[in-house]
Amino acid sequence: MSSENWVDVASVDAVPEGDTIGVSLNGQGIALYKVDGEVFATAGLCTHGAAHMCDGFLEGHEIECPLHQGRFDIRTGKALNEPLTEDIRTFAVRLDAGRVMVLAD
Ligand code: FES
Repeated sequence: MSSENWVDVASVDAVPEGDTIGVSLNGQGIALYKVDGEVFATAGLCTHGAAHMCDGFLEGHEIECPLHQGRFDIRTGKALNEPLTEDIRTFAVRLDAGRVMVLAD
């Protein structure tokens, strides 16, 4: 038996192409993104302040925080510009029978 904890967080269709939505992962807010049919997941809150990443602006694989325009690469979580000093957490994602599965702790 695998001890990996994959959690069903949304239907693949619920995530609009080229955009982001907020969902719950075991009660914790996370953000999902869809780029070219591929789905990515990060922590729900910006590492700089209390902004929700699902309210941000997705351009390619970069999410721009709605509050101070900090940008993260959604593939790696890497912080790309000021005022960010800390990367954002990313989660492994797999698509299974039309559902988005995210690897929880
Ligand atoms: Fe995200 Fe400041 S809260 S850049």
